[in-house]
Parts: sequence; C-alpha cells; structure tokens
Amino acid sequence: MTRLAKAQNIDELAAMARRRLPRGLFEYLDRGAEDEVTMRGNADSIKRVYLRQRVAIDVSGRDAATEVLGIRQSLPIGIAATGLASLIHHEGESKLASAAAAAGVPFTIGTSNFTSQAKLQEICGDLLWRLIYPNKRREIVEHHIAKAREAGIRTIVITMDSAVTGNREYLRHSGFQPGATNARTFAQVLAAPHWLFGTFLPYMLAGGFPEFADMPEGERKFWGGTFSWAALADDFTWDDVRAIRKRWKGNLVLKGLSTAEDARAAAACGVDGIIVSNHGGRMLDGCIPSFMALPEIVDAVAPGVTVMVDGGFKRGADVLKAIALGAASVWVGRATLYGLAAGGEAGAARALAIFRAEIDRAMALLGCGAIADIGRGHVTA
Ligand SMILES: Cc1cc2nc3c(=O)[nH]c(=O)nc-3n(C[C@H](O)[C@H](O)[C@H](O)COP(=O)(O)O)c2cc1C
Repeated sequence: MTRLAKAQNIDELAAMARRRLPRGLFEYLDRGAEDEVTMRGNADSIKRVYLRQRVAIDVSGRDAATEVLGIRQSLPIGIAATGLASLIHHEGESKLASAAAAAGVPFTIGTSNFTSQAKLQEICGDLLWRLIYPNKRREIVEHHIAKAREAGIRTIVITMDSAVTGNREYLRHSGFQPGATNARTFAQVLAAPHWLFGTFLPYMLAGGFPEFADMPEGERKFWGGTFSWAALADDFTWDDVRAIRKRWKGNLVLKGLSTAEDARAAAACGVDGIIVSNHGGRMLDGCIPSFMALPEIVDAVAPGVTVMVDGGFKRGADVLKAIALGAASVWVGRATLYGLAAGGEAGAARALAIFRAEIDRAMALLGCGAIADIGRGHVTA
C-alpha cells in the first residue's frame, strides 16, 4: 500500500501534511483568525444536523455527477481558491488543477497565482474558475477581468468577505507572511526537509520564488515588490459589483456572503451564483458559520441564483447535508491542501478519491440515486 493510500480520511491526510510542512506554513494552511470561533463553528454546525436515512430504495445505478452554472462536474464538490498553494508544494497550483481535472471537478485559482490562468485553463477547461480580489486600485480588478476574458474563462468569483485581512497572530510569530520573516521561520524551514528540498530549493535553484503570473507588468514580484497583489479594497461596494456585472458576460459568482440581506443585494446586481462562506474562518472571527447561514440564503435567492457553500467540509456525508439544505455544490479548501502538502498531485487526488468514495457510500445509505434526489427531507431541522 502506498503511503498516501494509507490515509483513510481527510484528518489522516492532515496529519501527514503536518509532518511535511514547516510548522508556520502548516499553521497558515490549517488555522483561522483570532480565537478560531468561526473556523470551529463551520465544522461543528455541520455535525449538529443529522441525515434522515430512507430505506428500501434501489440505489444500484447511483451517480454523484451534477451540473453547476451550466458546467457538468462528476461530484458535487470543487477545490476552493487558496492563495499561495504553490508554496505548499512545488508548482502546487498546477498539481491541484491536474487532480481536479482528472476527477472532473472544478478548481478555483486564487488571484496571487504563480502559474498563469491560461496554463491552468489548458488543464481544466471550463472547470477552471477564476477568483478576483477587490483591489484598492480598481484598474487591477479591470486587468484581471480582461485577462480572464482573454484566457476564455467561463466563471469568475469575487471575494466579498475581505475588506481587510483577518487577524492571524501566529503568522506574526512564525514569520510566514510577507515582511515578517524571522529566526523562527528559518529554524522551522530547516526542520522540514521534505519541504526544504522538495519545494523551497527547486524554486531557489530556478532563481527564486516565481512572479505572480497574471498581475500587471511591474506588479508581479512576491518579495520586495509593490505588494499591489495584496492591496485589499475596503471601499468595494454593490456599485462595483454592478459595474463588473455590466462588463462580464460569463458566470459571475460572489464568495463570502453569510446573510440573506446580502444575498438579496447580490441577486439584485444580477449575479449568477453565491458561495456562502467566511473564508474558512480566516477573516471575521465570530462570524456566523457557513452551514448555519446556508438555509436563509437559499430561501432568499434560490433557485434564481445558484447557491454554493464552503467551510469545514471533510466528509462525504457532510457534503450531502449541504446539498439537502439547497446548496448546488460544496467547495473544499483545506482538505485538498492537506493532500497537496502530504503528496503533491497524488495527495490532492487522494483527498478527492476519499470524498468520492464517501459521497458514493453516503448516497447509497441515505437512499439517493442522484444528487437531484437529495432535499430538505433528508436532514433534521
Ligand atoms: C491556505 C488558504 C488560503 C486561502 N486563500 C484564499 C484566497 O486567496 N481567497 C479566497 O477568497 N479564499 C481563500 N481561502 C478560503 C477558501 O477559498 C475557502 O473559503 C475555505 O478554505 C473553505 O473552508 P475549508 O478550508 O474549511 O474547506 C483560503 C483558504 C486557505 C485554507
């Protein structure tokens, strides 16, 4: 049995990831903001709802495939945008993209990408979704929209929950954030030989960390540059969303909503989809867990607007709970990153295989042959 095949669930992949990454980098991946109330709430709230199992149903021809925003996917999950995935594993963005493409699920590439979206699009086709952060300099947002159009991207996602960056104190201690590197950072890197030799050194031997592939000319440097890629916008409003809607004819999705009021405002702007999300509990700590916010948003805007959710999903049965509450699909952030850290593309593929097996088993046991068969009657209130 290969090392990765020994991981029977996402938590076991997380344990492997922890052993391979420098401590501070694992914390960047794994932890949330401040007291992590929202991060824990994301996972805990899913566990508080139970599945209502139905029996004596022929589920022998079951199929977990579904269609989201007109694009078919083989499972009701996708790989969420996670910035700097190429620091978790050498060329991690391409590896996540390849794992997603092989599994037939969507992959969202973050804005601070080392690998160009055009290259990722060759791997994923229509299953590549493009995340765009509101930037203080609106011409950078414009630039990203134009680039997405040029690359033939069908779906763009705007992150809405990050007017400023969440407070993650442990990063200032460990130094695993731009400008904060300290003696601890180096000690932790030296204590993680897999990452040092497998990720860090290959970049250094090739001349340093790659540039941000899709940023405008002159704004692409990671260290020592203008940091425009990280200049979040604290003045981004529904007017900006309306303006983007006018210019972008493809699928437009807003990510990071957690109230019915904002969902209605988004619907009024003419968006196609909403991802109910709090950034995996990495931004506003104390914010309502996504799974708890899901029903009110579904009731407010579905089915006219496609509602999806992320935050705390590590089991196939939990994905089915979200589908039952009206989500069209679930996005996973950390789960596939644990796989990536544990074993590159094969590790990310292992995470998706675990979800596939768990979703298939849970559908059979729940008495559902198709994703469309799953409804509110399948969960406790
Ligand atoms: C390491 C890491 C980096 C992330 N970077 C971004 C980002 O750049 N933009 C964004 O909108 N969300 C980002 N997210 C949030 C994810 O897109 C997603 O909302 C979240 O991970 C879902 O929760 P889960 O990790 O519990 O599955 C990041 C998450 C992680 C774990």
